[in-house]
Amino acid sequence: MSRFRSVVAGVGSYLPKNVLTNAALSKMVDTSDEWIRQRTGIHQRHIAAEGENTSDLGTIAAQRALQAAGMEAGEMDMLVVATATPDLTFPATATIIQKNIGMVRGFAFDVNAVCSGFLFALATADSFIARGQAKNALVIGAETFSRILDWEDRSTCVLFGDGAGAIVLSGEPGAPGMGERGVVHSYLRSDGRFTELLYVDGGPSSTKTVGHLRMSGNQVFRHAITNISSSIAKVLDDTGLTISDVDWFVPHQANQRILEGVSRRLGIPEERVITTVSQHGNTSAGSIPLALDAGVQDGRVKEGDLVLMEALGGGFTWGAALVRM
Ligand code: UT7
Repeated sequence: MSRFRSVVAGVGSYLPKNVLTNAALSKMVDTSDEWIRQRTGIHQRHIAAEGENTSDLGTIAAQRALQAAGMEAGEMDMLVVATATPDLTFPATATIIQKNIGMVRGFAFDVNAVCSGFLFALATADSFIARGQAKNALVIGAETFSRILDWEDRSTCVLFGDGAGAIVLSGEPGAPGMGERGVVHSYLRSDGRFTELLYVDGGPSSTKTVGHLRMSGNQVFRHAITNISSSIAKVLDDTGLTISDVDWFVPHQANQRILEGVSRRLGIPEERVITTVSQHGNTSAGSIPLALDAGVQDGRVKEGDLVLMEALGGGFTWGAALVRM
């Protein structure tokens, strides 16, 4: 079986227009700008408008990624959407985006690994490309967490926002080596014993409702730092690379203090961390490609740079990936 490496051909993202500041939130629940900034680093989040769905956010991010790649929707063989907030119970948000962008070939499906979803979608698309089962793939992380928040629960509603990011992956012959562009390695984990620490208390089969997000933030925080650090150590160990080989750390944007905790543990210099959490809060599966796009747009992340991604989310699910841009 031939082997291909999955090269990032383009990156795009989209944030809804409506901005909800900490000051505005402090009029809705018993919180303050000072508490939110100090504990999370978040200054504001974007909220999808009435009638603006996850697929709408994902569609714009996908179109921007295609434009950046100089490619057409008709060239895509595969479209994967990481989301925990689909438009509908079914069909998959991926098929809605497939229709929206005018992709009338290949296949599209969703993956749900919550905040780690983008890593799971990336690894899935990479596997299809590596085996030659798809040449070009759109990998999208898109969420409207505002729809599953309990807006009376100050311990969770201040943390999340809506947004989407996307990348186009394109297969090029040859196994991923250390110097060539492409997905170098990824590592995925889950452990269902921790469900009750981060979950949504509803769903089609259990309650016939959508439900609200529930989180024991403190405990998730501790697991995040430990599990993210060990995933990063694993991908570096497997590839024989070290932190000093990594040009950019593009983490899931949940909390500034988690990013700092992981960076401190692993000796990642602050100036090599791409941080966007202050601008949009935790956008779950949207956050890694949103941060990657920010780094590409402002010229920090360049072709050939080695990017390290990581996340932990509900499940728990977690993992890390190394990508040579
Ligand atoms: O992406 C998925 C993964 N999710 C995460 O990674 C989130 C991980 N967890 C976190 O980011 C942090 O745990 C939080 C930001 C959620 C909370 O920070 P913390 O430092 O762990 O605070 P805490 O939960 O221990 O709460 C401290 C205090 C409590 O009051 P008492 O019991 O000390 O009187 C809370 O009631 O802060 C209170 N509190 C708030 N106060 C003002 C909780 N939420 C708020 C709020 N405003 N919004």
